[in-house]
Amino acid sequence: MPLDMIIGAQWGDEGKGTITDLMSAELDIVARYSGGDNAGHTVTVADEIFKLHLIPSGIIHDGVTCIIGNGVVLNPAVFLREIDALAERGVDVSPDRLKISRSTHLITAAHIALDTAKEMQLGAGKIGTTQRGIGPAYSDKTDRSGLRAELFDDPEGLADAIHVHVKAKNVILQEVYGAEPVDSQKVAADFAHYAQRLQPYLVNSAHFLHTAIKNGRSVLAEGAQGSFLDLDHGTYPFVTSSCPTAGGVLTGLGVGPKHVDRIIGIAKAFTSRVGSGPFPCELDGEMAVRLRGTGSNPWDEYGTTTGRPRRVGWLDLVMLKYAANLNSFTEIVITKLDILSGLDELKVCVGYERNGERIDYYPTDLRVLGECTAVYETLPGWQEDIMGARTMADLPENARNYVQYIADYTETPVSYISVGPERTQIVKVNE
Ligand code: GDP
Ligand code: IMO
Ligand code: MG
Repeated sequence: MPLDMIIGAQWGDEGKGTITDLMSAELDIVARYSGGDNAGHTVTVADEIFKLHLIPSGIIHDGVTCIIGNGVVLNPAVFLREIDALAERGVDVSPDRLKISRSTHLITAAHIALDTAKEMQLGAGKIGTTQRGIGPAYSDKTDRSGLRAELFDDPEGLADAIHVHVKAKNVILQEVYGAEPVDSQKVAADFAHYAQRLQPYLVNSAHFLHTAIKNGRSVLAEGAQGSFLDLDHGTYPFVTSSCPTAGGVLTGLGVGPKHVDRIIGIAKAFTSRVGSGPFPCELDGEMAVRLRGTGSNPWDEYGTTTGRPRRVGWLDLVMLKYAANLNSFTEIVITKLDILSGLDELKVCVGYERNGERIDYYPTDLRVLGECTAVYETLPGWQEDIMGARTMADLPENARNYVQYIADYTETPVSYISVGPERTQIVKVNE
């Protein structure tokens, strides 16, 4: 049975949680393969809103097994809070249906302190991280000094490893950043408690997935972040420290490419970005407020994890086409099309101009990107409220044309259009 992928096509917050929830209705397993609690995925079911940072969005569907893959970095405190909050709402979060890879790396208070200290030192040049310790935890992983969830099996080994880890981080915190040290005893005591609670969730996740796939169970990889936050392919250094793109699924879960079927790129009908870094189509003024919202709706553009207002702009088709190629999207899902209702004209970026020259691909060199100005095509808008649309025929012609323009430019079919945050506010394109 197949491995399908949900991948963010922009800078995150495209609505991956909503579409994962939609697809989970017909799936056996949903797995996170990268990132950590820097992610914030919102799922709306009737009048209930679930905000998930670590636990895959599939958890809301009974019968779906959820996996934290080896490619994730996991803050056990956040994970336990999420488990407890879901259990209180009646969701089954037992180890029977929720599993953590033994190879998942752990985030400690020392990683978080380092993330914060580094950002403070960068000042105006900061990356604008979520300050969840993501970068320092992945740095330890590649440095081969990280702490893995398998330590939850071995209380003594865990305590020793924590003391060595915190001691090493405290040297950097104090001597490089002039920051307060972290209390090693407290971290060790906290982790002893986490180990007790989380040890039953451990699994060899790659083996679990190989067996599941062999036995005909279907797997969905739930992306976190987005293609342009990818460590290799994003707007480096204004990126996250993992690989949200399709390649990251294979290493982040330990499943080979022959099982891959659908690679679903999730793209907002416009563009948003939270944190620093280049954004050629960025808008300010009235139109930015119009796209962002003022915070009065739960879906307005304010970070799920940090509450920061998101930067917003017109849809960048150059980015989207580049993402389609980076990931081999088999299809694109357009979310938040409803937000564009009521605008007379819509702009889409179809190229960049630099020193009088036209560029029609996404430059990865920040200096080049910084000198690019967006070249726009203007498309006619629509006035109707489309939040009640459920079929293509319910959409105004200009909305259908907007979607078709995206499919044509990216040479990728659009399979679904989402017209509201709720589970049922979905239009299937080829019904
Ligand atoms: P993710 O990180 O990719 O899962 O996306 P987020 O959950 O951070 O942000 C997407 C936001 O948009 C959430 O508040 C969703 O409930 C909301 N949302 C998703 N699809 C739609 C849509 O089609 N229309 C509207 N209005 N909101 C949507
Ligand atoms: P979801 O899964 C949007 C951004 C941060 C910052 C950069 C690096 O909800 O789409 P990090 O804490 O990862 O070191 O921060 O990446 N970022 C996200 N932006 N959505 C996310 O996740 C993000 N996860 C990280 O804002 O610019
Ligand atoms: Mg999000």
